[in-house]
This record gives sequence, structure tokens and C-alpha cells, in this order.
Amino acid sequence: MGARTRIVSTGMFVPRRIVTNKELESYMDTSDEWIQQRSGIKERRWVSPGETTCSMAVAAARQALERANLKADDIDMIVFGALITDYLFPGTGVLLQRELGFSKPVPALDIRNQCSGFVYALSLADAWVRSGQYKRILIVGSEVHSTSLDLTTRGRDVSVLFGDGAGAMIVEACDENSPHIFDSCLHSEGKFAEVLTVTKPSSNDFPRISDKLSLDTAIYPHMDGKLVFKNAVTRMCQVLIELLGRNNMKPSDLNFVVAHQANMRINQMVLSELGIPFEKTHHTLDRYGNTTMATIPITFDEAVQLGKIKRGDLVAFVAFGAGFTWGANLLRF
Ligand code: COA
Repeated sequence: MGARTRIVSTGMFVPRRIVTNKELESYMDTSDEWIQQRSGIKERRWVSPGETTCSMAVAAARQALERANLKADDIDMIVFGALITDYLFPGTGVLLQRELGFSKPVPALDIRNQCSGFVYALSLADAWVRSGQYKRILIVGSEVHSTSLDLTTRGRDVSVLFGDGAGAMIVEACDENSPHIFDSCLHSEGKFAEVLTVTKPSSNDFPRISDKLSLDTAIYPHMDGKLVFKNAVTRMCQVLIELLGRNNMKPSDLNFVVAHQANMRINQMVLSELGIPFEKTHHTLDRYGNTTMATIPITFDEAVQLGKIKRGDLVAFVAFGAGFTWGANLLRF
């Protein structure tokens, strides 16, 4: 019997500080009504001093370990992803490895796949487990957006959408008769790299960090929201159909879809296009905003804790993000 990969447990962490749309009204020309109507977001969490990408990752990872009754040394690989890291280098994966208290030098890999990071990481972890190279892998996505957003009216199209938080998942080898991950599809299209981007500081600049840099608006995220929106709907539908099709399944076979949390309207359109009823999904976007790679593990975790997803359910994860990158995973939980 060949090794397959199963989800053991999940964990999540969001900072205590709640930032409502009303609070954002005091920083920029926006309104609670606009934000809710266009995105579905009511509030998001922001870190307080002392909370970092790594500290949130540690909290989410510890919860996943505790729920599985495992200790750090039971893990033999870490896959970590974030846009905004504690240090420029080394990556936050090794900081997480240090903070979790491993007694052995388990490898830690940092990936940079933005909002698609989790579906990429899960696909990679599944391939490693199936190859026999690693038996139990910890995946963590953690993001601190709040400290690098343009909180003036100039940045309002982006700044209202993002929040801070972390999600973790532990996967391990199982036999093929147990519920397991079936398959993943991943894609990217680099011609759209500048459609959603932060371009500075850049290796193109001499010197890379100058006095002028803090005045350069390129240090903030820039986005063509309409183009991202259109591509997100199209690509998320396409990749789910591709993934289900090559596994001889159809959208109606799914018990649940966990979609990246960027915009409620994007997810409504994807589900309606595929004929999947809205009850077969769960949203955390209204309370946490877009936490990039953390949205899928956070949303999956909540749905499992609420009993919306049960062991044995057929579940798809689907995400789209900057790059553009997108992908999906298909699994029996
Ligand atoms: N508050 C109030 N008004 C705002 C605003 C805000 N926070 N942000 C933008 N606006 C204004 C715009 O300036 C524009 O004004 P104008 O008509 O006077 O020029 C108007 O609202 C409409 O903007 P538009 O871009 O047409 O809105 P939209 O319906 O496309 O919604 C987004 C904007 C950003 C919510 C939407 O495009 C989106 O969600 N895109 C995808 C983003 C995403 O998913 N990103 C992450 C991918 S992982």
C-alpha cells in the first residue's frame, strides 16, 4: 500500500486588536458601507507591539500540535509562508523552528506564493509525504499586513482589505484506505506580476535603501483591483474544474469548499458559477479580512471547530493571489 497524506490537525491565531471599518474612516476617506458592500469585510485584526509574523506563527503551530497531542520533535519538516517577515533574511521558518523548541535540526522551507501560498505548500507537503522523504509536516502561513499598509486615502483600495493572522496545519503519512489528499493543481502567470505588487525596496536601486525611500509610494502595495477580481473568479473556477475533472469528480460531489478570503463577491461568483450552494462554504473574511496564506488554514480550522466540516467529507481548497498564482487541493478529510 502506497503512502498517502492526511490532515492531522489545524490551529490558528489572530491578534486581539480589532480594527473596525469605522476606525479606518478616521484614517482615510472611506466608509463602513463601501467596504462591506464591495468586499464583505466588517473588521480585521492588527498586531500590537511585540506581536510579529513569527509570534503569530508559533501560536497557531502550538495549537495544531496540542490538538494532535504532538510535540515539536514529532514533526520532521516545516513549510512556512508570509509576505511580510520578521527579517529580510533568514526566513521566518527557521525562527519558527527555534521558537517551537525542536531538539533536532529539522529543515524549514520558506515559500513566497502570496495568497496561493497555502495550496502550494499543501501540494508540496503531500508530494514529500508520498515520496517517503518526510512523514509529518507542519505548514504555517502567517501575515502582518498592518505595519506596511498606506493608511491614507491614496492607499484605501488595498488597505481596507488586509488583516493580520496565522494558520497552521499538520499533515502526515497514512495508508491509501484512510481519508487523504487526492490531488493538487498549481498555476502561475508572471506577466501579471505588477498588477498586485510592492516594488520597493528593490535590488534595482543603488543604494537599495536611501533617505528618499520612505517618501516613495512604491513601498506600499499597489493593485489593479478590477483586473485581480476578474482573474480571481475565472482562474478559481477553472482550477476547480480541472482538479475535479482529472479525478473523475464534479462540483456537486464536494461536501465543502474552503476558498481564499479576499472578497466575498469573488467567492459568491465562483460558487454560483460551479453550482455549489453557499451553505457548502465558510467565511472568516468578514472578521479577519485577507490574511494572505493564512486564510485557508484559518477558515478550515473554524469550519472544523464549528462542525461544518466533518471527518470523511470531500473538501476542496482554492486560492488566487499576486503573481498571478493560483491553485487548488482536493482531499477527503
Ligand atoms: N473606500 C471608498 N472608496 C473607495 C475605496 C475605499 N476603501 N477604495 C476605492 N474606492 C473608490 C475608488 O477610488 C473608485 O472611485 P472613483 O469611481 O471615483 O474612481 C470607486 O471606489 C470604485 O472603485 P472600483 O475599483 O471600481 O471598485 P470595485 O468595485 O472594483 O472594488 C475592490 C474595489 C478593491 C474591492 C475590488 O476591485 C476587489 O476586491 N478586487 C480584488 C482584490 C483582491 O482580491 N485582492 C487580493 C487578491 S489575493
